[in-house]
Amino acid sequence: VRVVRTRAELREARAALPGRSVGFVPTMGALHEGHSSLVRRAREACDAVVASIFVNPTQFGPNEDFNRYPRDEEADMALLESLGVDIAVVPGVEEIYPPGASVTVDVGRLGDVLEGAARPGHFRGVATVVTILFNLVQPTHAFFGQKDGQQTVVVRRLVRDLGLPVEIVVCPTVREPDGLARSSRNRYLGADERAQAQALHRALQAAEAALAEGEWSADRLREMMRVELANAPLAVPDYVSVADAETLQELDTVDRPALASLAVRFPSARLIDCLPLAGQARAGLSRPA
Ligand code: PAF
Repeated sequence: VRVVRTRAELREARAALPGRSVGFVPTMGALHEGHSSLVRRAREACDAVVASIFVNPTQFGPNEDFNRYPRDEEADMALLESLGVDIAVVPGVEEIYPPGASVTVDVGRLGDVLEGAARPGHFRGVATVVTILFNLVQPTHAFFGQKDGQQTVVVRRLVRDLGLPVEIVVCPTVREPDGLARSSRNRYLGADERAQAQALHRALQAAEAALAEGEWSADRLREMMRVELANAPLAVPDYVSVADAETLQELDTVDRPALASLAVRFPSARLIDCLPLAGQARAGLSRPA
C-alpha cells in the first residue's frame, strides 16, 4: 500500500494507478470487519482501490467524541496492506481544509432529520468531506456501509444533485454473532452495555418480522422497537424511526421502501443501527458496472 498524506502526493499516486476503475473506501480509521468488507467488495469490483483515513472534525458536534475517537494508524495500515489496497490517503486536517476554507455542502432537509436532528451540522460535515475526497481521489465507484443508513441516502443525493461522476455502492452491515453491528464505537462499551447492545438489532428484527406478517402501521412498528429497546435499561433511545427510504420522512403506513432506524445512548457510547424494510433490502444497492 502506498501511503499519501498531501494533495500533491495523492494526485501523483492517483495518476499512476493501473486500469480504468478506481474503487474508493472513505473511512475514519479504527478499521474493523465492516471496513474490510467494503475494501474486499471494492477489490472485486474495481481495477484499483483507494482507502482514506481521516477523522473529519467538521462532522462532530462540540460535545461529541472527536478527541477520544479511536486512532490506530499502524494497525489500520497493516490491515489495508493485507487487503491489497493500492493507495491509503491519510491527510492532515489542512490538506482537506486549507487555511481559511469556507465552502460547505448543505444537503437540505435530509440532513435535518434523525441523525441530523440529534447531531446538528453532522451531514453538512459528511457531505463536505465526501465531496472534497471524491474530488481529490476521483474514484469511479465509492463504497459505503448500510449501517450508516442515513449517510448512504445523503451521499446518493449528493452525487445525484451535484452530478458527481461516481457510482455509490452500499454494502451489507457486518454484525457480531449476537447481531450488534460492527462499529468503531463499540470498543467504548463496558461489559454490561455490550451485553445489552444486542437490543438494537433485536428491535429492528422485531419490526422486520412484524411487517413480514402484515403489520403495516409504522406507529405500531416503532412501538415494537421501543418495547425491545426497553430490554436494554442502560440505553436511552434518541430516536426510533420508520421512514421513507429516500426522503427519510416518517411514514404512517409502510407502503413503499422504508428504513427502520434507531439511535440509543449508553453511558459510554451512542450507537445507531438500521434495516431496510418492506423487502427492499437490496433496492438501494447498486452494483458496479
Ligand atoms: O462513515 C464514515 O466513516 C464517515 O462518515 C466518512 C464517510 C468517512 C466521512 O468522514
